[in-house]
Amino acid sequence: MVHHESSYQPGTAIERWLDQRLPIIRMAADFAAFPTPRNLNYWWTFGGILTFCLAVQIITGIVLAMHYQPNDALAFDSVERIMRDVNWGWLIRYTHAVGASMFFLAAYIHIFRGLYYGSYKAPRELVWILGVMLFLVMIMTAFMGYSLPWGQMSYWAVTVITNLFSSLDSIIDGLGTAIVQWIWGGYSVTGVTLTRLYSLHYLLPFVIAAIVVLHIWAFHITGNNNPTGLDVRQESDTVPFHPYYTIKDGFALALFTLLFAWFVFYAPNYLGHPDNYIRANPLQTPPHIVPEWYFLPFYAILRAIPNKLFGVIAMFASILVLFIVPWLDTSRVRSTKYRPIYKWFFWLFVATCLGLGYLGSKPPEGAYLVWARICTFWYFFHFFVVLPVVGLIEKPKPMPASITESVLGSSEGAAGERGGGGTPEPGGATACPEKR
Ligand code: HEM
Repeated sequence: MVHHESSYQPGTAIERWLDQRLPIIRMAADFAAFPTPRNLNYWWTFGGILTFCLAVQIITGIVLAMHYQPNDALAFDSVERIMRDVNWGWLIRYTHAVGASMFFLAAYIHIFRGLYYGSYKAPRELVWILGVMLFLVMIMTAFMGYSLPWGQMSYWAVTVITNLFSSLDSIIDGLGTAIVQWIWGGYSVTGVTLTRLYSLHYLLPFVIAAIVVLHIWAFHITGNNNPTGLDVRQESDTVPFHPYYTIKDGFALALFTLLFAWFVFYAPNYLGHPDNYIRANPLQTPPHIVPEWYFLPFYAILRAIPNKLFGVIAMFASILVLFIVPWLDTSRVRSTKYRPIYKWFFWLFVATCLGLGYLGSKPPEGAYLVWARICTFWYFFHFFVVLPVVGLIEKPKPMPASITESVLGSSEGAAGERGGGGTPEPGGATACPEKR
């Protein structure tokens, strides 16, 4: 638990006046001074990158909404008008479309970072749970957004995915059909469906923004985890967030935007499907209905299971299982860096997820189907068997005595150690490099 006492001193009369009424400058100053582990690597820059992605999606989305028509007769043409006639419309649209992929890329890196360094373990369970909620709402938002251009893939993706609820008919006769027709607002996907998808697609990013505030608030209570997984014990273990991590996050963000811009300017349609440039046609099903790349692993799990209801359950379970990861992992040690056996399983799990992604893009037949079943089995085996069992039997590698020692190679920095769990002063942490 980080007890971070405010060191902010209002400098002017106006600041003093404001501080007694709405201490917003104090909040920003405390945020900047937040004691952050000194050893965070570049995998820790993705939280900031994700916040940037959310801002980009909201800003470009609002501008797109000024020109888009959420009506089944006009939607497709309104997108083409944005691309051709609206000033800079092509840039706004490509940034939003590529932005969705970049958002998921950053989210996957962020999630695997958390899994590798055990960032979900006590006391950060709630940070993690809020993260999984973010991931769920991101999935819903992206799915609804993809429907809006009303191309062939938009239309058929909505049809296939909403139809999944009809599998509930096998539990209570008529229940699934009733839910599906309620979602559709009719007997098939129509303009009525499009209007509700649009309404929710506009709403959900603000729900995401609200959850992000809770997510960030939560890890400001527990403090950040770090690559050693050790707790912060002494002043010299931390540095103030600003300028140390504002500059590091800023540099990583600059590199990330280069990749982002490369896609926008050189391969804007590479991550999309060409069929979505064909107007939605309810009378013609495309030969292969595939979701965007970031949904492929879940799509592979759905299709790996021969029974529709169980396929749907497995697909939802593959995401929901993340909620209970903090309680499935029995290891005393957080960071995989010090877990010689689990390390292998971690990378095998990464390979399994990539494999599922590849298989989700292939037709569910022959060897593809066999491999999708093997990977689906291993996906769940990892969570329900590997995580609990390996944590119990593994002997962790020797660990450094402190975060400072992991950086300086000795306990030299421990000179700044506080007695009796005092408050880490951000200023004390900056003094540390001088002790080197
Ligand atoms: C809109 C999406 C998200 C945003 C904007 C966001 C933002 C952030 C930020 C700014 C941080 C601190 C910097 C960092 O550790 O990288 C953070 C930390 C964290 N996030 Fe997220 N996050 C998002 C989604 C997720 C998801 C999907 C998960 C997991 C399922 C997650 C789990 C965590 C955890 C466990 C931490 C603490 C990390 C640590 O200190 O080791 N986040 N997040």
